[in-house]
Amino acid sequence: MVKRKTCIFISGHGSNLKNLIHHSRDKNFPIEISLVISNNKNANGINHAKKYKIPYAFINTKRNDYERKIFLYFKKYRISFICLAGYMKIISKNIISKFKEKIINIHPSLLPKFKGLNTFSRILKNKEKKTGCSVHFVNDKLDNGRIIVKKNFFLNSKDNEKSLKRKTQALEYKAYPEAIIKIFRKY
Ligand code: GAR
Repeated sequence: MVKRKTCIFISGHGSNLKNLIHHSRDKNFPIEISLVISNNKNANGINHAKKYKIPYAFINTKRNDYERKIFLYFKKYRISFICLAGYMKIISKNIISKFKEKIINIHPSLLPKFKGLNTFSRILKNKEKKTGCSVHFVNDKLDNGRIIVKKNFFLNSKDNEKSLKRKTQALEYKAYPEAIIKIFRKY
């Protein structure tokens, strides 16, 4: 199988990156992780790239030439698919239009509910019965593109932000690889 050369964008811990690296080592998994881009020099996720000898780059989105740099890296590593995994920046309209239906994101809520930041505190405040995670295509509106996979669980009275994060991320590690398999099964 010819694997899609994929770039993963991160900003922080990188546990979804680590999970996708593990899945991509399976010969039947549809993507190969060819590049990791972080906007944050201190992102722990970079250590996963280093450990598995995956090329990585820090790209400061405050610089005017940041988009040009991203395209140069994409060209160098022949990137044709993009996964956002805890990337806390907006992807520019230009990148989105050049990679239409080829950028996906994971979000820690049952979209369209709780788009944006501080998801867990808002879920608790709103006394939601159920929550979970969503993998979706990225378009030019925040957390708004077509959903590929959603997974959910019921909250209990003891849940707090920490427990919600732990339970949500446990589902993310199943949902993200499942979404990638689902996308490429169509082709
Ligand atoms: C994940 O839980 C992901 O859903 C969330 O950031 C976390 C990153 O964790 N993404 C967003 O909130 C995007 N709006 P990780 O760095 O350990 O993969």
